[in-house]
Amino acid sequence: MNFKSFYIVYYKHRVKKSHFLLRLYIFLILPISYIINKILYPSIIDLDKFSLKNSDLYKKDLNYLFQHFNSDKGEKLINQYRKPLNNVDNPIDGHCYHEHYEKFFSLKKNENIDLLEIGAFKGNAAASFFFYFKNAKITSCDLLPDLFLYKSKRIKNFQIDNSSEIEIEKKIIKPKLKFDIIIEDAGHYLKDQIITLFMLFECLKTNGIFVIEELDFPDTRKDMNIFDEKPTLREILLAIKNKKDFESKYVSVQQKKYFLENLGEINIFKGAHNEIAFITKK
Ligand SMILES: C[S@@+](CC[C@H](N)C(=O)[O-])C[C@H]1O[C@@H](n2cnc3c(N)ncnc32)[C@H](O)[C@@H]1O
Repeated sequence: MNFKSFYIVYYKHRVKKSHFLLRLYIFLILPISYIINKILYPSIIDLDKFSLKNSDLYKKDLNYLFQHFNSDKGEKLINQYRKPLNNVDNPIDGHCYHEHYEKFFSLKKNENIDLLEIGAFKGNAAASFFFYFKNAKITSCDLLPDLFLYKSKRIKNFQIDNSSEIEIEKKIIKPKLKFDIIIEDAGHYLKDQIITLFMLFECLKTNGIFVIEELDFPDTRKDMNIFDEKPTLREILLAIKNKKDFESKYVSVQQKKYFLENLGEINIFKGAHNEIAFITKK
């Protein structure tokens, strides 16, 4: 965990909201807080070795694995944004997406699939999928990849900013990466959700599944749609489901054509707090 990531994850939002004196205090304690928390930050786990002593995890369902590795996709988790120094670990409610994940992913459980998660954070879901899909290759990426806590021959981890068309093009499309499953769980901003789906749909293999978590954030949270832009990705998907046309400055004519020609089904579900979309490809 480098200093910049530490500041972004644990302090940036507090600095934004705080008055002058609190801000000054935060900046004064920041270096020492960083050193202590860096020392206490968990070491990287080699899943290839870890799995030898924990082979029972290969038999567990997704809710168990999400909770075990502290992903927010399951029923309960310990606050992911808790500093290593703060060892209070009361469980909080997760997104409860596990049932939907289980339903769609169980069909591919034993296949040699390629899975991409954008917004990997500490690798909480990547480690869960490592055990759920025992033959899968997992590609994880995040704005802050130095937070990632796992390594394996089956896991790749790299930096990306999925609010940038240039980065998506350079790091995923140009290298011709192809996936059976793509999960978007990054910033959840209006533009990021739209460009990620429509740019990366071509990187999804036949019968692939594209998942968008917190689909409804731009519709329900001002900070995820600062300029109140329309249509949101949720509105676009509902229009398509209802066989209506849509226009978005973030979707080119070719991307729209490719998406509509190759679309299987759009399924939108409500988790404990937010919505999740599972989009299949023909
Ligand atoms: C809620 S966390 C993901 C949780 C994790 N996937 C899990 O299952 O527990 C969101 C992650 O998205 C990353 N993120 C935010 N904006 C991003 C962007 N523009 N590009 C890539 N990653 C981003 C954050 O750094 C953070 O690690």
